[in-house]
Amino acid sequence: MSTAGVRPDRTTPDVLRARGSLPAGRGPAGTPPAADVVLAEPAVGDAAGLWRLARDVGLDENSAYSYLMFCRDFAATSVVARGPAGVLLGFVTGYRRPDAADTLFVWQVGVAPPARRTGLGARMLDHLRRRPALAGVRFVEATVTPGNVASDRLFRRFGADAGAAVACRLGFAASMFPDGSPSHADEILYRIGPLQRTVAAPAAGAGCCSRPPRRSDP
Ligand SMILES: CC(C)(COP(=O)(O)OP(=O)(O)OC[C@H]1O[C@@H](n2cnc3c(N)ncnc32)[C@H](O)[C@@H]1OP(=O)(O)O)[C@@H](O)C(=O)NCCC(=O)NCCS
Repeated sequence: MSTAGVRPDRTTPDVLRARGSLPAGRGPAGTPPAADVVLAEPAVGDAAGLWRLARDVGLDENSAYSYLMFCRDFAATSVVARGPAGVLLGFVTGYRRPDAADTLFVWQVGVAPPARRTGLGARMLDHLRRRPALAGVRFVEATVTPGNVASDRLFRRFGADAGAAVACRLGFAASMFPDGSPSHADEILYRIGPLQRTVAAPAAGAGCCSRPPRRSDP
């Protein structure tokens, strides 16, 4: 996954407010109640917000165009989390691997700081695996840079909730990134699965970010 973890922190509530990712008056103490957070497929109109949030939380700075592509072509395998007044609180972009239809590759996950550690990241991943469009997916893959503790914990939490093993190996070596690009660490590939069977998908567009059950449905 394009993760940074080494970028300067530009994720304080004030910075997010200034960039339009967070409304005035919100901060860590103003974390929206879980029930107020709605999960949904992204629309093309969300692309600019995803790009801004990715930049603000220190993810790799991909082109704005790439988010337009994800929001148009991979909406069914991606998710956005919106708080009160539709404020973007988080997102996951992913796609089904063309050469392995049973595998969802998670490209990026980002959660705005005020909404972190509320279970939102785990909830978005859990929401995705229950999507009708992802029926038949038994594995989730993502790459994580060493030292990104939050990301490591997120995927291990997801694996535990899905009753699945988590296997790690080198995904993309640092040397594979081009000279002249921002310095890049190795990307460790997390392969999570096989996922336990899920129950019926939630109603379209529904889903709050209360912490999911510790174990997957049988
Ligand atoms: C990684 C990220 C998406 C996690 O989102 P989140 O909504 O805070 O995660 P959750 O609240 O669902 O927590 C999931 C698990 O990770 C743990 N966790 C989250 N952040 C943590 C941190 N900073 N340190 C240690 N554990 C952390 C939680 O405790 C939870 O584990 P548990 O249920 O076993 O206690 C978020 O920190 C983020 O946006 N980081 C910046 C961008 C990034 O690095 N993205 C990932 C790229 S691979």
